[in-house]
Amino acid sequence: MLEIFYTKKPVLSEAFIKNILTAYYNIPNPTICKTIHGKPYLIKSKICFNLTHSKGLTALAVGKHQIGFDCESLSGKPRPAVLSKFTEREKGEILTVQDFYRHWTARESYIKYLGEQLAALWRKVEFYRGRIYLRGEDAGVHILQFETENCAFSICGDYTKFSIKCVD
Ligand SMILES: CC(C)(COP(=O)(O)OP(=O)(O)OC[C@H]1O[C@@H](n2cnc3c(N)ncnc32)[C@H](O)[C@@H]1OP(=O)(O)O)[C@@H](O)C(=O)NCCC(=O)NCCS
Repeated sequence: MLEIFYTKKPVLSEAFIKNILTAYYNIPNPTICKTIHGKPYLIKSKICFNLTHSKGLTALAVGKHQIGFDCESLSGKPRPAVLSKFTEREKGEILTVQDFYRHWTARESYIKYLGEQLAALWRKVEFYRGRIYLRGEDAGVHILQFETENCAFSICGDYTKFSIKCVD
């Protein structure tokens, strides 16, 4: 089970992570470390998390398996520069604004799952028929998607269920 917490109040990412881990996971004063590409993690803990923000909304996904979590506001227009980087078969699936953001966040959630850099992997990743492909091969990861607060969300990881809580 994955638990998602979000706020629309202005918060600093690290403070939000620490507050949630303390309030809901009973971890007082958590020490947050970062990988070489900036993915925050907890040392000496089985708890995994990943944070995302878009247009004033900050959301944190917490679970027991590796996570990549991404959201994008649905209020923007699909960006031609981003759209042009999708593959032909992806473009064939992108018929609405929602489709655009579902594809975008799915790709980003996978890159964040790996803890990689967007710039390094964006052109090598594809989201087609609900599956992620890396350099043309099925990446073997699971993507969960939902929409709330006018944002599209994608979760990459070994999860089938999630709960969501506004903590404003
Ligand atoms: C993280 C990244 C993959 C996606 O960023 P994004 O979609 O713009 O932002 P999101 O709001 O979804 O996620 C940002 C959060 O993810 C987390 N994060 C940071 N780097 C991460 C990484 N490599 N993998 C997973 N999560 C990461 C942090 O909590 C970050 O919050 P913060 O920036 O407030 O500290 C992108 O910024 C990236 O490629 N970072 C790598 C470092 C890098 O290339 N820096 C130079 C940028 S020009």
